[in-house]
Order: sequence, then C-alpha cells, then structure tokens
Amino acid sequence: MSSTVFRILVTRRIPREAIDILATKCNIDVWDSDECIPNQTLHKRIEGIDGLFCLLTDKIGSATLDAAGPSLKVVSTMSVGVDHIDLRECARRNINIGYTPDVLTAATAEFTLALLLATSRRIVEATREAQSGGWGTWKPTWLCGPSLLGGTVGIVGLGRIGIATLERLRPFGPKKFLYNNTKRRSIEEENELSVEYATLDDLLKRSDFVLCLCALTPESTNLFNREAFNKMKRTAIFINTARGGIVDQDALYEALSSNKIAAAGIDVTNPEPLPVDNALFKLNNCVITPHIASASLQTRTKMATLAAENLLCGLEGIEMPAKYSIS
Ligand code: DGY
Repeated sequence: MSSTVFRILVTRRIPREAIDILATKCNIDVWDSDECIPNQTLHKRIEGIDGLFCLLTDKIGSATLDAAGPSLKVVSTMSVGVDHIDLRECARRNINIGYTPDVLTAATAEFTLALLLATSRRIVEATREAQSGGWGTWKPTWLCGPSLLGGTVGIVGLGRIGIATLERLRPFGPKKFLYNNTKRRSIEEENELSVEYATLDDLLKRSDFVLCLCALTPESTNLFNREAFNKMKRTAIFINTARGGIVDQDALYEALSSNKIAAAGIDVTNPEPLPVDNALFKLNNCVITPHIASASLQTRTKMATLAAENLLCGLEGIEMPAKYSIS
C-alpha cells in the first residue's frame, strides 16, 4: 500500500470500526449525525474529494458527481441496494462503486421471516389488543391467521436474500416454494433448492405468502400495483423487505382496506420515513417497520467495515472486496 492520504467524505455517523479502517490512509470529513446530510452541505463538502462513503438515503446523481468534480474515483455505499446511485453516470466518469452484499443476507432473511410471522400471526395487532383491554376470555376464532405449514410461498426475487429466506422458512413446513426472477435459475439450481419457477401472474395467483425480495430497478418499479394485488388470493399475506418503490402504495392501501388481500408486512416504504399520518398506519392488517431488516448489531458493523474496505481498496487501486459491476 502507498502512503498517500486520500480526501474522503462520510455522509453519516458510522461505526467506529469503519472510521478506524479509513483513518489509516484518509483525511476524513464526517457528517457526524444520525440525520441525512442536507443536499447543499453535501454539495459543498464533496468538492474535490477522492472518495465518498455514502448510505442508501443519499441520492448520488449527476448534480452530486458534478459537485465532487473529477477527483472523485470511488463511491462506496453501506448498502447492498444501489438504486440511489446513478450507475451509468458513475461508469461514464470512471468512478468505481463499492457495495455490501453477503454481509447482510442472514440478518435480512431472519427479519423477513420475523415480519412474515408477525404479520400472518397478527402479533402487533394482538399486542395492541392485550394492552388496550380487548383481551376478554379465550375465544376459538379470535386473532387467527394462516400457518406456514402446508402453505405456498412465492418469492419474487430469488437472489442471495431470497435463498437465505427460503432456507429459514423451510423448517416451518410450507408445501411449495414458487419463485419469479427476471432471469430463471438453472434446472439444477431449482432442483437443489426445491423451488418451482412461475410467471409473476401464476405466482401471485397460487401463493399464500408473497415475498418481495427483488432489487428496485426501472423494470420493478411499481411491480406490485392494483392489477398484481387483484390477482392475489384474498387470504394472501404480502411482505416487502426490498424497496418501497417496488410497490404502488395506494394500490396496497386499497387492497388491504377492502380485504382484497389479508395482510401486509412492509419494512420499506416510499417515501422513507413514511409520514405518521399515512393511511397505512391506520390499518390493523398492515405491519410497518422502519427499514430495519439488516439491523442486527453484527451486520451493521460488517456493512460499515466492508464499505470502508471497498473505499480504501478502490482508492489504492487494488481489488475491492465487493465492487458493483454494471451488467
Ligand atoms: C440495503 O443494504 O440495501 C438494505 O436495504 C439495508 O437494510
């Protein structure tokens, strides 16, 4: 490694371990807050930097890249999702992108399972009832929800997190796993995972539990729209731990409030944070969490240190542990 000191900007308060890695070779300007860096401040402080450590809440498009100027060589995001970065524009300017796959797979899959169970078995609603005096005598049909045992699970986006979620769900005994991907997996992979490929329509019609785990791209934007919810079973449970933009939220509200589907558990919304007066918060059959699927203590530190290593390696011109390549 050379002894060059790089100028970098970190757009949020991040774990100490990541700062320690960066401090070995970088002059670090940290926006030391848990709140987003205001755009104006970002554009001022980004000028002339060599590397940017950013989060999924920072929009990195032409204006930001222009503000940085030609010195910017690496954008490293502490996320597996890269939908907040203008990838083509970075490629055009020869800016390398680092991201954080794998290290959050287990935590996100674990949380997807937790959200699915909380939603299907009505845990939040039940807690509210218990706290607010709704708990009368034991009633045979009260607060019942569908069991995973014997059900059909449909996964839209069977990538790393999709597979990890499927593996964690299997012990609960669903009778079938369906999946839909833009690119179908090989027959060998399907056999190994015991999953059946289905068109989106078919998956929506047949699944008792529909899990949205695909990336947000122009193609997947509003994929879950009115038409999609209309195709689902009235008893279906819908879960989204991917990105809010994949769901048309008005259509979701309509589907939930008119009981076209049974319930939804969403960890991601559009916008984030979801305003507290949003109608979805008023529904008993909608469980909303604040984008915390990867929030295990170990995972967030690993994400931050991987993003730091990506940034440092990219700046030093050595292979980044997790470089995002545009296919
Ligand atoms: C990511 O890394 O893209 C996740 O959404 C964070 O939980």
